Amino acid sequence: MKKAFVSAVVGLAVIAGGAMAADGAGIFKSKGCGACHKPAAKGVGPSLKDIAAAYKGKEGDLIKFLKGEAPAIVDPAKFGLMKSQINKTKSLPDAELKALADFIMSH
Ligand code: HEC
Repeated sequence: MKKAFVSAVVGLAVIAGGAMAADGAGIFKSKGCGACHKPAAKGVGPSLKDIAAAYKGKEGDLIKFLKGEAPAIVDPAKFGLMKSQINKTKSLPDAELKALADFIMSH
């Protein structure tokens, strides 16, 4: 158990010290987020650019949203389509959530 904890911490340190944007992009891709979110054009969901603009200076709130702890602020009327997606992000480790949020905010 202790060993698992230590390797988890080392793993997080590696992620935190590594290429965060690239990692966030990988998570975004592997979770299928890109099916509804394009970088700059509106798709089924708002563009990453619009999301980044709405969360400017409030990245903490974006992480809370992805954890299912904060309400939608970009397009609340369509939250029904996004709601089930939070099941894919809410259990991610903090370092991965941060990388994902950093990736979104980089737009
Ligand atoms: C089935 C289409 C679909 C998929 C797949 C999807 N989203 Fe969304 N997303 C939406 C829609 C529609 C909205 C607009 C409603 C809203 O603002 O919550 C949205 C909104 C958002 C928002 C803005 C939240 C806010 O405050 O309004 C974020 C951030 C987001 N999505 C991230 C993600 C991430 C990360 C993934 C991948 C795990 C993902 N989405 C996958 C449809 C989708």
